[in-house]
Amino acid sequence: MSRNTAYKKGVVRSLKGIVIKVRFDQDLPDLNEMLYIDNEKKSPLLVSSLSHGDTAVCLNIGGDYGIQKGDTVTRSGHSLEIPVGTEMIGRVWDTMARPIDGKPQLDDEVLSKMIKRPIFAPAFQETSLKNRPDDILETGMKVLDFFTPFVKGRKIGIVGGAGVGKTVLTMEMINNVATHSGAISIFAGIGERIREGHELYKTLQDNDLLKTTAMFFGQMNENPVQRSLIGLSAITLAEYFRDDEKKDILLFADNMYRYIQARNEVSTIIDQTPAEGGYEPTIFSDVKALQDRLSSNENGSITALQTIYVPADDLSDPAVQMIQHELDSIIVLSRVVAAQGIRPAVDIMASSSSLLTPEIVGERHYALSVRVQAILQKYESLKGIIAIIGESELSTEDRDDYNKAKKLIQFFTQKFNVMEKMTGIKGEYFTREDTLNGIEEIIK
Ligand SMILES: Nc1ncnc2c1ncn2[C@@H]1O[C@H](COP(=O)(O)OP(=O)(O)OP(=O)(O)O)[C@@H](O)[C@H]1O
Ligand SMILES: [Mg+2]
Repeated sequence: MSRNTAYKKGVVRSLKGIVIKVRFDQDLPDLNEMLYIDNEKKSPLLVSSLSHGDTAVCLNIGGDYGIQKGDTVTRSGHSLEIPVGTEMIGRVWDTMARPIDGKPQLDDEVLSKMIKRPIFAPAFQETSLKNRPDDILETGMKVLDFFTPFVKGRKIGIVGGAGVGKTVLTMEMINNVATHSGAISIFAGIGERIREGHELYKTLQDNDLLKTTAMFFGQMNENPVQRSLIGLSAITLAEYFRDDEKKDILLFADNMYRYIQARNEVSTIIDQTPAEGGYEPTIFSDVKALQDRLSSNENGSITALQTIYVPADDLSDPAVQMIQHELDSIIVLSRVVAAQGIRPAVDIMASSSSLLTPEIVGERHYALSVRVQAILQKYESLKGIIAIIGESELSTEDRDDYNKAKKLIQFFTQKFNVMEKMTGIKGEYFTREDTLNGIEEIIK
């Protein structure tokens, strides 16, 4: 029944951790081809490189134990591919599209009718689409909507060190944006805590969002092969909905830094020497290729929100820098801000967006943002002066701006809906209009 029966089999020659060398006397497989051990589990292997004309260097992608020297191996004749279609919605999958939500695999009959797509699809042609003001996706969060707009078809990143609120902010975005937009959401959990998958599932369920969301998880308990591929599986499904179903997609990835880390681990295991800042050089082109797939074309849009963990709070980390170049809006979360009790803990001066233009956000919003940034900038320098000479020595104008800045900083804090169950405090949602009116009120 499968495409592979005609191939001659390979034989496992050596095993070293997750690297398994398979010899083929004939019919050497292709790069990225899936192979299956002839055991009960049909343990999957992924061809990572070819050597000596007869050996496939493979990765034990399922992390299955019990594979032994001498086991025979069957070629699949295709690369790692996943079924795509509406059947994937409402469920949780691993990178090979095996269910990990405790529910059964899709029926054989259903599966056999579904389109299969390789997850290593080549990057497609991007057509740049001009954004109109109505393409702004309201997040209901004042500080984000004002400084780092979330625009259809664009990329927004949440950057920050450990525990500063990246995941909570992502959940709030899913909750607020997905509820209002009616788009299909795809979530990729990459190398983070397993518990967070359950929390996300629960949040989606509580908000009746499972019916429009598909989830892919390769969390920290998974082997690095799965963690390095899970994002690609998620993107493959997003591309299907965009190109075949002509839909608008919201893609959430937590955490894109873990993708790089996992890629690095895989490279180290298969013996490539890491270079620049501890990163293996080809990783940067992989990141670029992945980011290029997160885009829009004439069929539909992919709007992406990704979190980026900052190791040791060092924003100059080469991987962090690299991903930031790919983003249209960057929200920086900061430990210093969090320590002041400000939530969300956005470092406004460090955050930035290339979408904060009059064409996209409109003249009124743009003009306000210039004024507010000037006031906040001034506040930063006045803080130092006040520490030395005291507030009473400031000119009336400076003192006025200083107080406005304090009010603005307070204004940009808000309670989250997704925290409501934990804290008992009601979450808040602000329309962009509310936000602009509130700011005008303060700076008038
Ligand atoms: N907006 C918020 N309101 C209230 N509490 C928050 C908020 N954001 C974060 N927190 C608190 O901070 C904790 C850590 O947040 P979160 O898990 O989102 O951090 P993170 O940046 O994703 O961390 P990591 O790098 O470890 O993944 C949360 O469990 C929560 O208690
Ligand atoms: Mg997190």
